[in-house]
Amino acid sequence: MLFRRSVVLATSLTLAGSSMGFNLLRDYSGQNFFDGWDYFGSWDNLTLSQVWWVNETRATAEHLAYVNDAGRAIIRVDNTTDLPGNMPNRDTIRITTKDLYDYGSLFVFDATHLPYGCSVWPAFWTKGVQWPEGGEIDIVEGVNLQKTNQMAIHTNGSCSTSDSIVQTGSIGFTDCSTGNGCTVHEKNSASFGEAFAQAGGGVWATQFDVSGIFIWYWSRADVPAELTNNASSIDISSWGTPSAAFPASAQCNLTQYFAPQQIVLDIALCGDWAGVQSIYSSTCSGTCNVTGPGSPAYDNAWFEINYVRVYTSGTVAPTSTASSAGSTGTGGTTVTSTAGSGSPTTSGSGSGQSDTNAAMALEAASVRAVGAVLLSVVAGVALAAW
Ligand SMILES: *[C@@H]1O[C@H](CO)[C@@H](O)[C@H](O)[C@H]1NC(C)=O
Ligand SMILES: *[C@@H]1O[C@H](CO)[C@@H](O)[C@H](O)[C@H]1NC(C)=O
Ligand SMILES: *[C@@H]1O[C@H](CO)[C@@H](O)[C@H](O)[C@H]1NC(C)=O
Ligand SMILES: *[C@@H]1O[C@H](CO)[C@@H](O)[C@H](O)[C@H]1NC(C)=O
Ligand SMILES: *[C@@H]1O[C@H](CO)[C@@H](O)[C@H](O)[C@H]1NC(C)=O
Ligand SMILES: *[C@@H]1O[C@H](CO)[C@@H](O)[C@H](O)[C@H]1NC(C)=O
Ligand SMILES: *[C@@H]1O[C@H](CO)[C@@H](O)[C@H](O)[C@H]1NC(C)=O
Repeated sequence: MLFRRSVVLATSLTLAGSSMGFNLLRDYSGQNFFDGWDYFGSWDNLTLSQVWWVNETRATAEHLAYVNDAGRAIIRVDNTTDLPGNMPNRDTIRITTKDLYDYGSLFVFDATHLPYGCSVWPAFWTKGVQWPEGGEIDIVEGVNLQKTNQMAIHTNGSCSTSDSIVQTGSIGFTDCSTGNGCTVHEKNSASFGEAFAQAGGGVWATQFDVSGIFIWYWSRADVPAELTNNASSIDISSWGTPSAAFPASAQCNLTQYFAPQQIVLDIALCGDWAGVQSIYSSTCSGTCNVTGPGSPAYDNAWFEINYVRVYTSGTVAPTSTASSAGSTGTGGTTVTSTAGSGSPTTSGSGSGQSDTNAAMALEAASVRAVGAVLLSVVAGVALAAW
């Protein structure tokens, strides 16, 4: 199969100032929501859950991925076809953006409903094309009847977090290189499951930066005005302490582990996390299974999404060039001296050029001291085919 993916590469220079500006780069919403994603089209050979992630043809035919009358994207589990016997037993969806987004990006996800229920394992996350080499950022993830959202990053090598990181969530695992990844538990009680839906949903924003990866969450009533206004340029300097912070540090050379990221939305059932007996038993009874007598109902196993939006701290004018930058497993810059303060800065990188590296290292150091105003320089956009 041949996939064409464009890789957005932006670099930026930072001067003294007070705002942290981002410009809209991509909006997945409304009738066009499903443009620009690839459907997995295979059984779940990754997390060994009991599902078939259908292709686009079947997704449409089975009404598993569509835009509803309110103009929101629905991604759901087949709750009418029971296929006992050999796995996989049930059809669901996994879609991945064709585009890759580099350092300097801000991913915003606005949903009114997340899939939940016994055996259900939804996620909104990002990854490099090569996994695990290109890294993984889990922005929204939970299993079964878990009450609150769990965030995490995964690195294919040594990277760790610590209690001293400033974030509003509570720290879980601290070794990002293990199967669990390093985890942070959201404290907002309306961040997952039924409580999320009852609050009218909410919004997550994830800053993917050379200085760190920062995730904010707001329940519907608290979403900041710059996001509810659908503005094409936003300033995030008033957002405050994020729910989860994964700063670049001496304990974690982020740019070594994170390549440009593609966004993934999926629903698994049972499998490597939701289906582990001790985990399943903590919120559900019996054994995880998705079919046959006593299997869970899937009437709440759906995403309802207002939009997925990507902003950038660079001014991006897409052009097409052949490049393998998106698939090498490295982000291309060297910035390891940032402190574990959890306070985000804006910057972009990813060109892999050493002169840019020097500028970026300088920028990371100066940004914290003087605040940030962006003068942006577009390094280029690569379209890679493989
Ligand atoms: C899983 O299936 C997909 C689609 O058939 C394939 O491209 C991929 O290589 C498989 N992955 C593993 C780990 O087997
Ligand atoms: C979609 O998946 C179905 C069942 O797996 C298969 O029969 C069909 O050929 C696929 N369609 C495309 C366009 O790949
Ligand atoms: C789920 O239930 C079906 C039907 O009872 C059975 O065939 C299958 O082996 C079960 N799967 C698991 C993983 O327990
Ligand atoms: C990913 O990690 C595995 C296990 O440590 C290692 O064998 C592999 O070489 C790593 N891949 C890359 C591209 O670094
Ligand atoms: C928000 O703005 C984007 C970009 O201008 C546009 O594509 C989208 O339709 C807007 N959404 C709404 C709900 O107005
Ligand atoms: C951090 O990672 C970058 C990109 O792989 C590498 O060039 C640099 O040498 C690493 N820094 C340290 C201190 O290991
Ligand atoms: C399937 O779930 C949908 C909600 O996603 C619900 O409206 C519908 O009634 C359910 N169908 C069955 C047969 O349970």
